[in-house]
Amino acid sequence: MNTARQLIKEINEMTYTQFVGYINQWNVPPGSLSTLNEWSVFGHIDAQSHILEIACTTGFSGRELSRITGCSVVGIDICESSVDAAKQIKKLYSPTSNLQYIVGDACTFNFEQKFSHVVIGASLAFFQDSNGLLRRINTFFRDSGYILASPYYGNDDIPQPLINDCKKIIGITPTMCHYDTVRSLYANYEVAYESRKNIVIETEDQMKKYTFDTITNCCKLRGIESEEVFDTLYSRLYSIKNISNELHRYQKYSVLVLRYLQSVYPNKFIELF
Ligand SMILES: C[S@@+](CC[C@H](N)C(=O)[O-])C[C@H]1O[C@@H](n2cnc3c(N)ncnc32)[C@H](O)[C@@H]1O
Repeated sequence: MNTARQLIKEINEMTYTQFVGYINQWNVPPGSLSTLNEWSVFGHIDAQSHILEIACTTGFSGRELSRITGCSVVGIDICESSVDAAKQIKKLYSPTSNLQYIVGDACTFNFEQKFSHVVIGASLAFFQDSNGLLRRINTFFRDSGYILASPYYGNDDIPQPLINDCKKIIGITPTMCHYDTVRSLYANYEVAYESRKNIVIETEDQMKKYTFDTITNCCKLRGIESEEVFDTLYSRLYSIKNISNELHRYQKYSVLVLRYLQSVYPNKFIELF
């Protein structure tokens, strides 16, 4: 088998997370840079902040928060190829930022250091044992800290054909969580800031430009010259983009800054109104 054909076979056999790592995708939380700017302002992140990015994938949130504020970051993800990509992107785009990465299970990993902020984005939904992780987040802080989350929620049921396509293309079965369910996960933390957002569906041109730019960069970094390999990578990423876009018709998300105070946790004495 020639190398291009072998590579195409390997690309098609990669899991979703391996593929994301392979193409060095800058896998973002809902709202992307705009969410990070809200977190940084309302979570009071500065150059002294020490952040744990849970399920960092290719490290976008921590890397860009560090660029905006000068904070230091430890990222952890269970997927080795995603963490390898995070390290590679740091070297290329943020060589002077204080960023470290760990391959490990955030539900069991023993962190020796304490953190001022924990970035979780929308990742909780991807954890097999999300309750296990939730039960220990408070131990990642000293006596106070902030959780920075951006969970998806929705009101309409997702049509079954779309659920089937998601399973086939991104390997997950999307479930629609009601707003109250998503918020109740963080019931033991105080709401320091919240903004609920509607999602604007992307146009075909926007998705094509993003896909073309990302795959062109991947091929440059990996020295890939074969047009067939380019087309394979392009069509896999475009179908991921497209299915996510379709899913967004049924989703909203919330930008959340949750405060942990050891002196009151897990009680809550602050009302919302
Ligand atoms: C959709 S991505 C997260 C994207 C992005 N970081 C965000 O803010 O939404 C989900 C990630 O969770 C990681 N993951 C799933 N279970 C994990 C675990 N037990 N420990 C660490 N990472 C985990 C996966 O490897 C994957 O990279």
